[in-house]
Amino acid sequence: MRLALFEPDIPQNTGALLRFAACFGVAVDLIEPCGFLLDDRRLKRAVLDYTAVICRHVSWAAFLACRASQSRLILMTTTGAIPLHRFAFAADDTILLGREGAGVPDEVHRAAASRVVIPLRPGARSLNVALAGAIALAEGLRQTGLFPDP
Ligand SMILES: C[S@@+](CC[C@H](N)C(=O)[O-])C[C@H]1O[C@@H](n2cnc3c(N)ncnc32)[C@H](O)[C@@H]1O
Repeated sequence: MRLALFEPDIPQNTGALLRFAACFGVAVDLIEPCGFLLDDRRLKRAVLDYTAVICRHVSWAAFLACRASQSRLILMTTTGAIPLHRFAFAADDTILLGREGAGVPDEVHRAAASRVVIPLRPGARSLNVALAGAIALAEGLRQTGLFPDP
């Protein structure tokens, strides 16, 4: 299982996700451009000394070009068609998260094998992207038996 971040804007969110991914041994695809530099001190502060495996891609097109074709791209989106608790993950899925402000453009929606929503109370618009990623990845790891052995 992998995590992919589409053009992230806020270094603290990306830092939190990189630390999270490092803790669970999940590689991260970073789809640029980002709204910050990778040596941003706010990013470093959130990551601490955890080391995640990061693959940088200069664009969405570059990301698509290097993907293994058999694995599914699972887009987490507030407009998802399937609620997270009814979705069945596979061990080689890539969970894709959108930008903090704008989510992802239509072409990215179209490229996803599935579009999954974390259901929220009426009136609640969205979760922080790092929390959405943590919830989705934890559910994926749980379903596929990929949590590290204690
Ligand atoms: C702050 S949200 C972006 C809000 C944006 N207006 C949208 O609807 O996509 C940033 C990212 O977090 C994820 N996210 C936040 N809340 C979510 C939810 N309830 N279900 C699924 N993904 C969510 C999505 O990947 C989203 O692109």
